[in-house]
Amino acid sequence: MKISKRARLIQPSLTRKLFNMAKEYDDVIDLTLGDPDLAPPKSVCDAAYSAMNSNKLHYSANAGLLETRAAIAERIKQVWGIDCNPAEDIITTVGGMEALYLAMLSMVDEGDEVIVFAPYYVNYIQMIELCGGKPVIINAYDSQNGIVIDENVLEEHITNKTVAIIINSPNNPTGDIICADMLKIIARTAQKYDLTIISDEVYRTLIYDNVKHESILQFEEAKNRTILIDSLSKEYSMTGWRIGYAYGPREIIANMVKLQENVAACATVSSQYALIEAYTNQIPNDYIRTEFQKRRDYLFGEIIKIDKLNPLMPKGTFYMFINISKTGMKSEEFAYKLLKKAHIAVVPGVAYGDMYDDYVRVAFTKEIDVLKIAIDRLKRFI
Ligand SMILES: Cc1ncc(COP(=O)(O)O)c(C=O)c1O
Repeated sequence: MKISKRARLIQPSLTRKLFNMAKEYDDVIDLTLGDPDLAPPKSVCDAAYSAMNSNKLHYSANAGLLETRAAIAERIKQVWGIDCNPAEDIITTVGGMEALYLAMLSMVDEGDEVIVFAPYYVNYIQMIELCGGKPVIINAYDSQNGIVIDENVLEEHITNKTVAIIINSPNNPTGDIICADMLKIIARTAQKYDLTIISDEVYRTLIYDNVKHESILQFEEAKNRTILIDSLSKEYSMTGWRIGYAYGPREIIANMVKLQENVAACATVSSQYALIEAYTNQIPNDYIRTEFQKRRDYLFGEIIKIDKLNPLMPKGTFYMFINISKTGMKSEEFAYKLLKKAHIAVVPGVAYGDMYDDYVRVAFTKEIDVLKIAIDRLKRFI
């Protein structure tokens, strides 16, 4: 039986590997996946139930119901201050992931290069490769300074094959954010070399300590060349609802819509009704942010006291990057031993780029009572 080169190229991620291994232990504390444990707001769920009960669940337009796109346009106006045309500038997708994939499929040809800053969301790399493209990785993080984007380094990585730059802020896996000055550098460089920017902002509502979310869309240089990726997965704790969207240059959106017909036909329609409720009625998600901030503060306060572990305070997301270099172990050895001996599953930092083998990523997607047990086990393990 023949298996395609593309399929063989793709390996299951270390995140999924640890997640699957964790299932072998009854009492495991699984801190691998970025899947929040909280429930979505009730009225958002009710909007989906009501659509189901009134037989409204049929295929929608490939780009999504016009009503869904109108609600997204309203949200874009409110958050990014941009007026857009719901019929032409937006596509509704099966989560942020499908938006990312369709965006890349629309742009990347065999041999094209896409710039990715590390540590990165693992799926960027595999999606670029699935499209026949080549990820060009720039290491952009250190424990002292967090994410640092240097204009010269960025320019050095651009070739005549570069088509796009992907950015992700707040960032998975570090929880760090890209500051406005660095976003400006990226915007200016993209304009200089006529590159498209993919701005993955799915964690934009999970920022702590009243820090404001900065988007690259605030810069004129980026406005007509940025594909914004957003989703309800993290904002409303709706990962399994598979609903997200992309907003961007008309020509790219039109091509994403064309491809959508062949990939998923349309985003899940019950979830589109949930989105309409969430965005049109501006349903708050403060309870989600407040809970994650509490967990972050607890976890950081405890891990910093543990000998040999150096946690980095995340400014956003629900991930904590922990430097483990003083344990003398590299990240995979640490993660496998931690699972075997302490029944805690975390993701080895090397999953996010070769340079991050001295780190592990912890997702604080479990309640504090469970995190307390994890801390006790972690102390004993160390
Ligand atoms: C950085 C980043 N982008 C996009 C996604 C995709 O999320 P979804 O497809 O659930 O919207 C994730 C999920 O973990 C992520 O971490």
